[in-house]
Amino acid sequence: MNFSDSEIVGSILHENAYEATGDIKEADLILVNTCSIRDNAEQRVRNRLSEMHSLKRKKPELMIGILGCMAERLKDKLLEEERHIDLIVGPDGYRSLPQLIEQAGNGQKAVNVLLSAEETYADINPVRLSGDGVTAFISIMRGCENFCAYCVVPYTRGRERSRNPETIVAEARDLFVKGYREVTLLGQNVNSYRWEDENGKLEFPGLLEEVARVNPLLRVRFATSHPKDLSDDLLEVMAGYNNICKAIHLPVQSGSTRMLKLMHRSYTQEWYLDRIRAIRRYLPDAAISTDVIAGFCTETEEDHAETLAVMREAGYSAAFMFKYSERPNTLAARKYPDDVPDEVKSRRLEEIISLQQELSLQSNRKDIGKTFEVLIEGVSKRSEEQLFGRTSQNKVAVFNRGSHKPGEYVQVKINACSAATLKGELTE
Ligand code: 5AD
Ligand code: SF4
Repeated sequence: MNFSDSEIVGSILHENAYEATGDIKEADLILVNTCSIRDNAEQRVRNRLSEMHSLKRKKPELMIGILGCMAERLKDKLLEEERHIDLIVGPDGYRSLPQLIEQAGNGQKAVNVLLSAEETYADINPVRLSGDGVTAFISIMRGCENFCAYCVVPYTRGRERSRNPETIVAEARDLFVKGYREVTLLGQNVNSYRWEDENGKLEFPGLLEEVARVNPLLRVRFATSHPKDLSDDLLEVMAGYNNICKAIHLPVQSGSTRMLKLMHRSYTQEWYLDRIRAIRRYLPDAAISTDVIAGFCTETEEDHAETLAVMREAGYSAAFMFKYSERPNTLAARKYPDDVPDEVKSRRLEEIISLQQELSLQSNRKDIGKTFEVLIEGVSKRSEEQLFGRTSQNKVAVFNRGSHKPGEYVQVKINACSAATLKGELTE
């Protein structure tokens, strides 16, 4: 989401005659897009800010702005704590950046942390910062109203709102014409996407289908899905289109029904596993990935063991795994004790990571001997002679270059793997 927001900010500034520089020392304005999801994300931003403070000492006219969730969470308190900051702009305030920059240029600190119930930046055509020219993100909705007990996002990103589907499909079309071959539809909770106007109603499966129809050569991915509304309708649409990638990111957070209830996730272990079985039924070759939190409030060894058991049963191909980090003002911070000692959180996280390592390797080993369609994204970091791309299942595959280039589809037969990468050979 943050990456996609930076692309929106880039576009707003570009239209107002600002130009990006690759050299931070040359910059007259530095905007830092921030994340508040865990305390260590905020600490990293604080460290960057102190580096920037020294740049500003050498160049006093340099302006520094904080964008995104940390701006929203801390508001003008940040101005007291970090006196060298000139601008503070929350996730719904980016259209006002040109005026705020002007204000800051006149020596006044500028702040816009208003959240909006409507802003989707639907009409803004983002500049593409990824630079591969092959894959791009399209933001389809903003905000979140799930209020998971541990999570700061509903407070920093505000109400859930969906973007006009016409602008989404137009953006996908435009990207295809420019040579892009893969789009990822982004939202905090994509499967609660919902649009209604005089032409009727559109939900996420319908939107996904419309984007898939832009061109069979345009791959479509999406993230993130909340298990509570991963519907059979969606799985049916996914099964019906070759270019809808067979990869589902389905954050479980915990395998214990007691924890899930405390977390306000609104599903049980049984319900989650039923969704996993539905995915396997509709999409037998799909890869499933997840997010896991270790050591949430009151978590016992039994709860933790259930998380490990669900991970095994789901057979995840990949996972993002975190230690619980208490966030100010969330329901958990207000109501529950953060009572799992740090060393216990760390040990449980280690166990989760090492199990996932095993599962990723198992999942990759099953691919050995099979041939996959791979969309080439670029030259491998390890060797100029090799290219890399992704399978529909979102696994990275590395193979010999041949005469191919990024943006092409090739057939790759897998003959080796690590937990992180597939290695193979071109078959045509
Ligand atoms: N502590 C640890 N992890 C968190 N996440 C969200 N909030 C927290 C928190 N307070 C994780 C969840 C979510 C992912 C984006 O970040 O797993 O799915
Ligand atoms: Fe946070 Fe839950 Fe919303 Fe995801 S669904 S952004 S974890 S509140």
